[in-house]
Amino acid sequence: MKVGIIGAGTMGGGIAQVFAQSGWDVCLCDISEQLAEKGKARIAKGFEKRIAKGKMDAAEAEAVLARIVTGLKDICGDCDLIVEAALENMEVKRSTFCELESICRPDCVFATNTSSLSITEIGHGLSHPVVGMHFFNPAPVMKLVEVIAGMETPAETVSKITQIAESLGKTPVQVNESAGFVVNRILIPMINEGVAVYAEGVASAADIDTAMKLGANHPMGPLELGDLVGLDVVLAIMEVLHHETGDDKYRPHPLLRKMVRAGLLGRKTGKGFFDYTK
Ligand code: CAA
Repeated sequence: MKVGIIGAGTMGGGIAQVFAQSGWDVCLCDISEQLAEKGKARIAKGFEKRIAKGKMDAAEAEAVLARIVTGLKDICGDCDLIVEAALENMEVKRSTFCELESICRPDCVFATNTSSLSITEIGHGLSHPVVGMHFFNPAPVMKLVEVIAGMETPAETVSKITQIAESLGKTPVQVNESAGFVVNRILIPMINEGVAVYAEGVASAADIDTAMKLGANHPMGPLELGDLVGLDVVLAIMEVLHHETGDDKYRPHPLLRKMVRAGLLGRKTGKGFFDYTK
């Protein structure tokens, strides 16, 4: 089986790794060949660390990497499945799938890893039905996949993706389309509230995170998690929740907006609530 992953960033690269480790051939694509190669190089770097720790065999790493080819999306012509993990922007996602319609086989399944946008809107007007296949960061570690049906997603597409998620060693949950689906509807407002607690000077960033790790048994505090997800992604999801529901309880905190404007996006830019440059 062959999958085309569109977008070789943190999520696209992680998803490519998951499929390749389960024996799929993977086309890892981005808007330039260099970006796609960079995505594959990040996977290889992760493997090097695991090999150094004795947690992975060098031959296995080589075999997995050999299953991943990189390029532009026109290499996806013979893919059985597309998982789009491009920018979290409706126009980008719609135009990406429009282009893929003329590249991919008619029986190729179109899935999107959108973290909050409408599956119905992404897929409307396409001849390939679109389904949500939402992985969590870091994709190779996190067990959950949300499988999201839009208004026009056939039941057999949902069950196909559910089966594929299981075959990848993930636990799928079926979700009806709704802003933020299940996890981000609950998790992202919690991170936004963490930003508010910090902005009000209630506690230091480190103490807010320690409090939630030890007081609620979360593996990461909300601010560290925001830095992992990317503060631009957190802001984009809050904006979708706010816009779709009209409910001010989802108002993005002004500090979150300010940090995104300053390019303090978290791990991916080296700084967010914490400093990753050292
Ligand atoms: N990529 C691949 N593997 C990774 C990784 C990464 N980025 N980060 C950690 N790992 C692996 C490690 O190699 C390690 O594997 P082994 O056990 O085989 O050695 C394992 O994960 C555990 O890592 P660590 O021991 O270094 O660290 P940890 O125990 O603190 O776990 C964590 C790290 C899994 C990230 C954990 O802190 C955690 O679960 N955090 C919460 C993550 C979370 O909530 N993610 C969801 C974000 S929301 C989202 O993604 C949705 C969206 O649409 C925005």
